[in-house]
Amino acid sequence: MSLSPGAARGSPLQELADERLRRAGVRLLLKRDDLLHPTVPGNKWRKLLPNLAEARACGHTAVLTFGGAYSNHLRATAAAGRAAALRTVGVVRGDELRDRPLNPSLAQAAAWGMELDFLDRASWRERQSEAVLGRLLERHGPALVVPEGGSNPAGVRGCVPLGRELAASGASVVCCSVGTGGTLAGLAAGLAEGQQALGYASLKHAPLAAETAALQRDAFGRTTSNWRIEDGWHLGGYGRTTPELTAFADDFRSRHGVSLDLGYEAKAMFGLMAGLGSGPFAAGTTVAFLIAG
Ligand SMILES: Cc1ncc(COP(=O)(O)O)c(C=O)c1O
Repeated sequence: MSLSPGAARGSPLQELADERLRRAGVRLLLKRDDLLHPTVPGNKWRKLLPNLAEARACGHTAVLTFGGAYSNHLRATAAAGRAAALRTVGVVRGDELRDRPLNPSLAQAAAWGMELDFLDRASWRERQSEAVLGRLLERHGPALVVPEGGSNPAGVRGCVPLGRELAASGASVVCCSVGTGGTLAGLAAGLAEGQQALGYASLKHAPLAAETAALQRDAFGRTTSNWRIEDGWHLGGYGRTTPELTAFADDFRSRHGVSLDLGYEAKAMFGLMAGLGSGPFAAGTTVAFLIAG
C-alpha cells in the first residue's frame, strides 16, 4: 500500500455538533489525522515518513525502533516500512515475552515483516547507550535508529505541516494529546501568529514540558512560546483509565461516530469538555482538536 493515498493533501477538519458546545458558545473543529492513512495512524504518519526518507538519504535499507508489547508505534513502523520497502526491526521491552505467543499487536507487526527482538529490562533502561545499541546493530545489521514514538528532530519537523494546516482553521486554540511531546512540539511551530496549542498529558511524567521544549530546540534550534501542557487529565498515568472515561468515550462514539483512543484523545477530550465556558474555551471561541490516530 502506498504511503500517500491522498495524505499529502492533509487531513479534513470537521465541525462537531454537540449540545454541550452549543450551550457553552464554543465551536469545535475535529482535525481528523486518524483518516490520513489506513494502517499508519496520523501522528505516526507525520513523524515516520520523514524518518524513512532520512533512512533512504543515508543509504540505509533498515529502520530499528523501540516499543512496549502493545506499542502502536511498532505496528505503525512495520506498516510504514513495508509500504516503503525498508526492513524494520522492532525492539520490544521485556525478554520474558520472547518465548510466549505473540499478542495480536506484535503478531500484526511481524506479519508486516518486522523482525522482533526482546530486550531484558536492564538493557532496556540503557537502550540509547552505545553498548546496547551497538549490540542491537551487530545482531540486526546497519539501520537508522528511531526513538519510541518517532519523536526525533525529523519526526518533530514532520508535524510542522500539521500546524500549518491548522493555521488556516480560524481556531484560536488547538488541543492535542501528549505522549512524548513530538506532535505538540512540531504542530506548535507551524501555527499562525496568535494561535495557541494546548497539550493534554496522557501520562504522569513531570519533565514532559521540559522534554517537549528540548524536542523543539533539537528540531528548530529554538523553542516557541505558543504552547503549554495541561497535566490534570492523565487519570493516574500511562494506559490508566477510569469507568467515567470509558463511559465518556462510549458516549462520544455513539453521539458522533468517532472512536477516541482511550490512552490519548479520550483523556484530552474529557479535559476539554470539562473546561468549556472558561479560560481558553470561553464563549465565542473556536477550538480545534487533533485526533492523532
Ligand atoms: C493516538 C495517539 N495520540 C497521541 C499521541 C501522542 O503523540 P506524541 O508522542 O507525539 O506526544 C500518540 C503517540 O503515540 C498516539 O498514539
